[in-house]
Amino acid sequence: MKNKNSPNSPKDISSISMATNNGANTHADFWNPNQYEKFKKERAQPFWDLAALVDWTGVHSFADLGCGTGELTTELAIEKKITIAYGIDNSPSMLKKTESVISPVQFKNCDIEKFSLEGKFATDEQKLDLIFSNAALQWVPEHVTLLSNLHHWLRPDGQIAIQMPANFNQPSHSLAELIARDLFPDRGENFIRKIPVLQPEDYSRLLFELGFHNQIVRQQIYPHLLEKSSDVIEWVRGTLLTHYEKVLSPADFQSFLTRYSERLLQELGDETPYLYTFRRTFIWGQK
Ligand SMILES: C[S@@+](CC[C@H](N)C(=O)[O-])C[C@H]1O[C@@H](n2cnc3c(N)ncnc32)[C@H](O)[C@@H]1O
Repeated sequence: MKNKNSPNSPKDISSISMATNNGANTHADFWNPNQYEKFKKERAQPFWDLAALVDWTGVHSFADLGCGTGELTTELAIEKKITIAYGIDNSPSMLKKTESVISPVQFKNCDIEKFSLEGKFATDEQKLDLIFSNAALQWVPEHVTLLSNLHHWLRPDGQIAIQMPANFNQPSHSLAELIARDLFPDRGENFIRKIPVLQPEDYSRLLFELGFHNQIVRQQIYPHLLEKSSDVIEWVRGTLLTHYEKVLSPADFQSFLTRYSERLLQELGDETPYLYTFRRTFIWGQK
């Protein structure tokens, strides 16, 4: 992917294995930037709240893992005058927008797990000042291993900043699993979306064990005021339900969505407006 313009051209990371649409890493891409951005303002707020946790003094390089459309990554890199910035995502449709944008960020189609193993930031000179990830690592398994791998790519005083949803017990999330099990009892466990997100205390301990001397781990409730309760369905269609869209045939996904929508609206009631309370976990650490 071309990197237009950039006055400070980032280092090449083409040696990282890329997920492609042909070959062993092939996967159907059900991320849809238009669906995701229906709640653009609400989704952007935690990104900037996460950025506010970082001490930007002396941060010249960073990687944004699961950067999506890259719009926020670009804004952040420009605002903070970052000279070496990478945006990593494995969705071609989300990354598509980056092709038409002038950005100092080097965007790469790459799986975060692969990045964590093959970052190629082995020497002190190559290491990063910051690893940043907003609303993406909940899609990546094995967080103990993941963070243990990622922390090797950081400079001695490097920082890590992660935000993930923590509302998996809400009806919008728990019903998806319930209905998937109900409608498709023979599909086995692998078909259910597994949530790898740990408890806040686990991240605190993990940061400590990995040698992050300073840390903040906190949860925050975002009171998203939606026009009506059925907007919650539109919200999760842009994120959680992409999993079920991926593992089900179009006809099965339609049955799933119909049943899910009915049940969710029974649960939430027909409210206008609707307050969608959304819990998120913020993790920040400095070595
Ligand atoms: C909810 S969006 C967040 C996008 C962006 N960080 C933001 O704040 O708007 C999650 C993004 O993570 C990406 N993603 C999910 N799993 C991934 C993986 N294993 N490797 C790379 N990207 C992944 C998706 O393609 C999607 O663009």
